Amino acid sequence: MSIIELSGVEKSFGAVQVLHGVDLTVEAGEVVGLVGDNGAGKSTLMKSITGVYTTDKGRVMFDGQDVTQLEPGARRKMGIEMIYQDLALAPQQDVANNIFLGREPVKRLFGLLPAFVDKPRIDDQAQGMLDRLGVHVPSIHIPVGMLSGGQQQTIAIARALTFQPKLVIMDEPTAALAVREVESVLQLIAQMKSDGIATILISHRLNDVFAACGRIVVLRRGNVIADLRRDETDMAEVVSYIVGAH
Ligand SMILES: Nc1ncnc2c1ncn2[C@@H]1O[C@H](COP(=O)(O)OP(=O)(O)O)[C@@H](O)[C@H]1O
Ligand SMILES: [Mg+2]
Repeated sequence: MSIIELSGVEKSFGAVQVLHGVDLTVEAGEVVGLVGDNGAGKSTLMKSITGVYTTDKGRVMFDGQDVTQLEPGARRKMGIEMIYQDLALAPQQDVANNIFLGREPVKRLFGLLPAFVDKPRIDDQAQGMLDRLGVHVPSIHIPVGMLSGGQQQTIAIARALTFQPKLVIMDEPTAALAVREVESVLQLIAQMKSDGIATILISHRLNDVFAACGRIVVLRRGNVIADLRRDETDMAEVVSYIVGAH
């Protein structure tokens, strides 16, 4: 079954039309690479899935329901998570707090307000999450800002997974990472796939796209111009679609 199905999605900013009737379907547990030049409309398209942008035309179906008119919060509750390039972590806060950022388990003391944050429970659940994912950080008690780029990326993914998503969108997750760190992000994506989670991976690094994705969709000037099975294409062909030589 399709987890996400976009049909005829159009989006303009003022007089500039960025998306020209995009159709895109992703199956549950499928990992799809979304590639295209800067300004092709990749981020805009993904924000049309999360609801950050309302589309001008077209339909967004998620998990069998029409979510076109739904707010981002409602779509998130249904299982759509997006990890942005800037990760949106709180660098001064520790690893555990970041994983539960904004919705910490709360212990009410005699029902009095303000509610106290249940730190031991946060630490416990955060550690459990990281263990399940096989993610290693020196300690969950150190500030996230002190971790490497790759470690921060895995924390952002762990955070997204605590919402039990059905679809995770990652915008350039490996752009700034060392080789070994890229490996652990790609491993996480594979693990998510085996849990039935669909992923859309936006990346300029075609090596990573070919390693992680069974399908590759090329966006150019707001149109899907190629939808390729990894096993039936190669980097030269994908590049030729990206640059418009095809
Ligand atoms: N909020 C916005 N307001 C106006 N123009 C925007 C906005 N967001 C994106 N654009 C424009 O839309 C086009 C596509 O941008 P974007 O979706 O970020 O592309 P990509 O992620 O593929 O690089 C660009 O020309 C960009 O300048
Ligand atoms: Mg972008």
